[in-house]
Amino acid sequence: MLMARDSFTSEHCRRVTLIVLLFGRFLNLPPEDLDVLEHAGLLHDVGKIGISDKILFKPSDLTPEERRSIQTHPLIGEQLVKPLNLRPAEKEIILLHHERWDGCGYPYGIARHEIPFLCRLIALADVYDALTSHRPYRPPFSRDEALAEIARQVGKQFDPELAREFLHLIKSQQLFHHRTSGPRRQNSVKLSDQQPDLTSSAPGP
Ligand SMILES: [Fe+2]
Repeated sequence: MLMARDSFTSEHCRRVTLIVLLFGRFLNLPPEDLDVLEHAGLLHDVGKIGISDKILFKPSDLTPEERRSIQTHPLIGEQLVKPLNLRPAEKEIILLHHERWDGCGYPYGIARHEIPFLCRLIALADVYDALTSHRPYRPPFSRDEALAEIARQVGKQFDPELAREFLHLIKSQQLFHHRTSGPRRQNSVKLSDQQPDLTSSAPGP
């Protein structure tokens, strides 16, 4: 459904899922959490189906009104997935993946530990992929530029403890050995067979 409407967003969701699964495995999360991340990661931006092409593909900065419109996508997504009978934690990711640690996110402006753990986790993968992806209005950030931006947002946009772990993961040699020598199979994760190229600048939404 999302692929037919917007292949950029669909590819973004797929890359975010791969990154967040790597992160979840790095943190030794239990298989049930990884399962939630896999399913909800692929759907987290499904609400963008309800946003007009004019806004979604605008090649310049959004007006405040356009920004308010695109910020409705978590609420639209929540409505769209109602018939799917998702688990509560999956629905939370679709609804709350743009909330921020400092309470300045959307749609509700909840803060810190009010934001469910898996939502704080996926927010890091989401932003990392968005920064390193081409946008109509800017070139992609390099890996180091994206890491510097995430580091600047520690304790503001992101849970400080999780953000430090994420920075460590992306920087670590272990990750790159991991990518080149094949994944360790501590947990059964279908998508983990396909490691994302975290240094790439693949197109994104
Ligand atoms: Fe989103």
